[in-house]
Amino acid sequence: MRGPVRRLAGAALAAAALLLGGCAALPQDVLAPHGTVARMELGLIERSLGIMVGVAAAVYIPLAYILLRYRERPGDGRAPGTSEGNTLLEGVWTVLPFVLLVVLALPTFRDTFRLATLPSGPAVDVTVVGHQWWWEFDYPAYGIVTADEMHIPAGAVIDITLRSADVIHAFWVPTLAGKQDAIPGLDLHMWLEADRPGVYPGQCAEFCGLSHALMRFDVVAQSPAAFQSWVSGMQHPVTAPQSSLAAEGEVLFAQLGCAGCHTIQGTSAQGKVGPNLTGIGSRRVIVAGALANNPADLGQWLHDPASIIPGTVMPSFPNLNGSQLQAITAYLEGLRV
Ligand code: CUA
Repeated sequence: MRGPVRRLAGAALAAAALLLGGCAALPQDVLAPHGTVARMELGLIERSLGIMVGVAAAVYIPLAYILLRYRERPGDGRAPGTSEGNTLLEGVWTVLPFVLLVVLALPTFRDTFRLATLPSGPAVDVTVVGHQWWWEFDYPAYGIVTADEMHIPAGAVIDITLRSADVIHAFWVPTLAGKQDAIPGLDLHMWLEADRPGVYPGQCAEFCGLSHALMRFDVVAQSPAAFQSWVSGMQHPVTAPQSSLAAEGEVLFAQLGCAGCHTIQGTSAQGKVGPNLTGIGSRRVIVAGALANNPADLGQWLHDPASIIPGTVMPSFPNLNGSQLQAITAYLEGLRV
C-alpha cells in the first residue's frame, strides 16, 4: 500500500475500533438504564444529542457540498464577487438556535424539578456516607448499617441522604442515577429506583485522594421479600464463632483492638471509624469491591491493607502468623446474616 492509503486505512481502523468499542455490554453503561431516574436522564442525553447531530448535519453537509461544487478550477483566475447582508439568512440563524435552546431547556427544567422532588408514596431511607475510600450505608428506620453493598428492594423509591466523613466524594450508579456529590458538613438528597432485582455497580466519581479509583460499591436490588429477609438478618446477625478456630479469631479480634474502629452488631465491638462488619461473611465483595469475599483475599487484606488500598487508614498486622490470620478470617467469614 502506498503511504497515504496506508495512513487512511489506519485512521479508518482506529475510528472503527473507537466506535465499535461502544458496542460492548458494560456494567456501568449510562445508555442502558435500569431505573426511572436513569431513564429520565438518558432521555435528556438523547434529546440534546439529537439536536446536536441535526445542527452538525445542517452545517457540515451543505459546507462539504459548497466546498466541492465551487472549488477553484484550472483557468478560473477571477476573484468571486462579494455580496453584503441577507436578511432572511440572518433571521433564520438568529431565531433557529433560540428555538432549539428552548426545545432543550423545557424538558431539562421539567426533569430537574422532577428529580429534585421525592415521588409520593412509601420510600426506603438510606443515608450514604462517603469515606476515604469506602461507602457506608445506613438504614435509620431499620437500625442497621453496612458497607460496600447497598441493598435495596427493586421497584421501590429509595430516598438517599448523602454525607461525607472527610473530603468531597460523588455517589454514582450509572445504570440507576446520575452523580451527586457527598460534601462534608452538608446533607444532599437524591432518589433512585431499580426496575428489577440485580447487581448494579457504582463508584466514587469525584477525585478524593490516593485510592479514589478504588472507591467502588454495588447496589444489590432484591425482591421486596428478599430485602426484608436481609434486613431481619442484619437486625439479628450470627455473631457467635462457629468453630474453635473462629473462637480463637474472636479473641484475637479483641486483643488487636479491632473493636476500636469496627462495629459488629450484637457484640461489644462498637467502633465507628471503619466499615461496620455486621454480617460481613454474607457480602459478595469486601474492601469497597476491590476483593472477592473469600478467606484468601480477606487474609491478604488483613496482612497488608495498603498493598490493596494505598493510603488506607486500616493498619497492617505484619506480625500475625498464618494460623492467626486463618483464625481471624474464620471468625469474620462466620459473621453472617
Ligand atoms: Cu471518593 Cu473519589
